[in-house]
Amino acid sequence: MRNQPGSPTNRPLAAAQSAVIDDGSFRLEPTPRLDQKRVLAAYSRWAPIYDFVFAKLIFFGAFFDQSRKRAIQHINTRSGSLLEVGVGTGVALSRYAPHLAVTGIDLSPDMLALARKRAVAEHLSHVRELREMDAAELDFADASFDTVAVMYVITVVPHPDRVLDEIARVLKPGGEAIFVSHFASEQPWRRAIEKVITPRTEHLGWRPDYPLARICGHPRLELVDVRHMPPLGVFSIVRLRKTETVPATAE
Ligand SMILES: C[S@@+](CC[C@H](N)C(=O)[O-])C[C@H]1O[C@@H](n2cnc3c(N)ncnc32)[C@H](O)[C@@H]1O
Repeated sequence: MRNQPGSPTNRPLAAAQSAVIDDGSFRLEPTPRLDQKRVLAAYSRWAPIYDFVFAKLIFFGAFFDQSRKRAIQHINTRSGSLLEVGVGTGVALSRYAPHLAVTGIDLSPDMLALARKRAVAEHLSHVRELREMDAAELDFADASFDTVAVMYVITVVPHPDRVLDEIARVLKPGGEAIFVSHFASEQPWRRAIEKVITPRTEHLGWRPDYPLARICGHPRLELVDVRHMPPLGVFSIVRLRKTETVPATAE
């Protein structure tokens, strides 16, 4: 899935890298109106209809599912342990290859209840654990996982920078984090729309103005690949690899 130098899909990678350099920092202010209470309330409402709307609904569901499928295809080429952060109703669980040892966590008990039901109903023996947990405070030891999947989650958490820190901590050195999300557009007209709708979407548990550059500059996670998915690159798949060595701290 890695872009070849000079290929058209290499442009987003270069743009993301230069945005981090221009910006100088990857820290993102917490989203003040996207607090835990709101996220829990939003996903309690979404839970009963989530699979239909975001995976099955003709056009809309298929639109979300296309990027999810592509990311899972890549995840299935990996081996060892997989953590899915924000596993939701477990829409991806049955699609993970049986050689992966899968752990899922989610903040919402309502979403997680559906994931647990699915794992039992579909006899998903590669799913080792489904736990209620905040992605900003993962209850796992350092370097526990070979792969972390973060699909449609980083733009819905109140503290995305803390979540990135936690992902970097629980990944093994050389391990990969795979993100799927909508990121803020580079096109001025689309960005203007995102700015206008952001205050209105936060109560739905979603922030459309999250800049891609913010997940690309973490000191322990190096950028491997960015793929803007058709149509129009509304969703992107981003791969980050945990560095093998701890970066030197500034004096
Ligand atoms: C849009 S859904 C994505 C579900 C699934 N990953 C998918 O591909 O459809 C976002 C999920 O993130 C969860 N979530 C939001 N904030 C979280 C947090 N701080 N810690 C863990 N999960 C969180 C929500 O409860 C919800 O299940």
